[in-house]
Amino acid sequence: MTKKLFGGFILATLAICNVSAKDYIVSTDNTSMIITAEEGKTAKFRYYGPKVAAGDVKSLYLAGVMNNSDAYPTFGGNTIGNKAVWVTQPDGSMSLDLAVVSVNEYDTDEAKVTEILQRDKEYPFEVKLIYKAYKNSDIIGSSVEMTNKAKKPVMLYKFASSFLPVKRADNYFVHYHGSWAAENFEHTDKLTGGQLSVSSTEGVRNTRYENPSFMITLNGRPQEESGDIIGGTLVYTGNYKITTITNNWGVDVVSGMNEENSHYKLEAKEVFTTPELTTTFSSTGKGGVSRAFHKWARQYGVHNADRERDILLNSWEGVFFEINQGEMNDMIKSIADMGGELFVMDDGWFGDKYPRDNGKTSLGDWVVAKNKLPEGVEGLIETAKANGIKFGIWIEPEMVNTKSELFEKHPEWGMYFDNRPMTLDRGGTQMTLDLSNPEVQDFVFGVVDDLMTKYPELAYIKWDANCAMGMYNSHYLPKDKQSHLNIAYHRGLKSVLDRVRAKYPDLVMQACASGGGRMTYGYLDYFDEFWTSDNTDALQRVYMQWSASSFYPAIAMASHINELTNHITGRVAPIKFRADVAMSGRLGIEIQPKDMTAEDKEFVRRAMSSYKDVRHIVQFGDLYRLISPYDNYNIASLMYATESKDEAVLFVYDMESMINPNVPNVKLSGVDPNKNYKITDLTPVDPAKPCQYNGRVVSGKVLKEVGLSVYNTFFFDKTGHNSLALKLEAVE
Ligand code: GLA
Repeated sequence: MTKKLFGGFILATLAICNVSAKDYIVSTDNTSMIITAEEGKTAKFRYYGPKVAAGDVKSLYLAGVMNNSDAYPTFGGNTIGNKAVWVTQPDGSMSLDLAVVSVNEYDTDEAKVTEILQRDKEYPFEVKLIYKAYKNSDIIGSSVEMTNKAKKPVMLYKFASSFLPVKRADNYFVHYHGSWAAENFEHTDKLTGGQLSVSSTEGVRNTRYENPSFMITLNGRPQEESGDIIGGTLVYTGNYKITTITNNWGVDVVSGMNEENSHYKLEAKEVFTTPELTTTFSSTGKGGVSRAFHKWARQYGVHNADRERDILLNSWEGVFFEINQGEMNDMIKSIADMGGELFVMDDGWFGDKYPRDNGKTSLGDWVVAKNKLPEGVEGLIETAKANGIKFGIWIEPEMVNTKSELFEKHPEWGMYFDNRPMTLDRGGTQMTLDLSNPEVQDFVFGVVDDLMTKYPELAYIKWDANCAMGMYNSHYLPKDKQSHLNIAYHRGLKSVLDRVRAKYPDLVMQACASGGGRMTYGYLDYFDEFWTSDNTDALQRVYMQWSASSFYPAIAMASHINELTNHITGRVAPIKFRADVAMSGRLGIEIQPKDMTAEDKEFVRRAMSSYKDVRHIVQFGDLYRLISPYDNYNIASLMYATESKDEAVLFVYDMESMINPNVPNVKLSGVDPNKNYKITDLTPVDPAKPCQYNGRVVSGKVLKEVGLSVYNTFFFDKTGHNSLALKLEAVE
């Protein structure tokens, strides 16, 4: 229902709700955002913080804490201040001056939506600000829809999803930066005057170097369980940019698609929709931000997040490209024997004319390499079934190698410049297919559809993307719209994923892109999980998984036990440490079982059984981060607890292997101080010798307020890389 601001009906509605005519309160369970919308004037952003009611609005003004920024500042009209949008009108005027036309508030199954429609005072150009307060959560989604109602095109040069003004104080900005095999390390920067951006221009692996997520403190250094923090993450698969612009009176956070190389010609009547920036406000520090996002993710943000995830073995680190039927059958039997539930055959299984033996050939040719798998995928599915487990497969459907039957048949589907030498990615022969082209979209959908039609029992797909959008040229888009390529690619990908999900809602899919290059809610809308990093080294994973947990829940974080000597870092760590780290996420294993000792296999069998016992706590529980690896206390610790706090799992990791280190007690902030907890060691190396706490009952009050000492447990054991995985159950 569209409400005209000054219509009689509206005044009646507003009077009933007792809301001031101009101030629209967008509220979640515990937070509110206030936008002022008055017909004929520009919408103003007033407030984001603890939940308020209509009766509090006057006091917010009287207390002087209401903001006065435009809700969506425009370039041209007034050049002062930071901007969210910049367009060129059909007559060349670089101006936009917006005034409110109407406000529309309505309910959907998932959210209460407030839409504020603004129109330029001179030109037929409309900007709709959309605020979604997700139900049963503390997340607000902000996005924008622009409509060109002129008869000629408007050029868009800047088109943010959100403009968020934050009060200037002692503000810190937390962001997540890294690179291949070292993705997503947490960084905390004090905001001083000037700009700080996190962004991606890679095209298809948008979280390879930075995650589109941030936390900004309202005053003081970020704390884990205290302090006011706003957290935000962009729900988008493509290039993005989040910029903080700090000046003496405020910090403006401008988030959205990255406009670099992407100016957009908006045709007459065309509508341009931005992705959503989802935000939360927490007065319980970083932990509160994470728990709010995890709760939202389990309901809205991650595909099928209400279903427990299987324990799997992935073949990659075990055999790399050396796929063959015997080896696959052996691996299937081994993982079934250890208690796993799913086997995933990674890269190397396909290619007829050009069998895939390395990274140089065959992408695009999604048919079985018969010489490697004479009984085909069917044979492997049979083996899996006979062993009581499921079967999954790896694909990289958005890519092509120049040495492939697909490229021979459809060279025009690749992205490259016809008059320049090709700059190719992985293997020196790989490029991205042009998903702006509907024929390519059909092809990519067809890769999944054909596999699922041929092998309906496929339970899992690992969907990879190992190449940047290197050569920025589409053979499909017209010359004057080449700058649309990144946006058009991701619209194409979204439409493919919509089709895949419409037809295969139950298929489990992992988003992978050379490791952690696709760790965003943009993908998780469609994917059940992400591959966190190609680096499975447990010690380094403690840092990466810690940061990933800032926004993404454990259920979506693929975390695999790696081989004795890690193939990337060369680090040698005991099986218990490797398992205890992997068990804090979605557990899997990435080893050639043949290379494992009988003792290690037996240990993994017991660890998997323990994981099944606590899986509901890890995958659906609330996360409490206890001691950060980034604080260099020699140990790191985190826990998960069910909502009732009747059950919890505690993980503690020794990060330095020092003798006689100084380590703090671990305070379990996620337990109930009014309950007593029985402790069980989930992963003793020798079941006859569990850790000293096994079987003890300790009060929640002591665990929470005084803590658990891990010094004695850890540091007289000289194996190095010690760890604990403990279950806590409330008892009478
Ligand atoms: C990427 C992935 C790996 C593996 C290989 C296969 O690097 O991140 O996990 O699947 O591709 O080529």
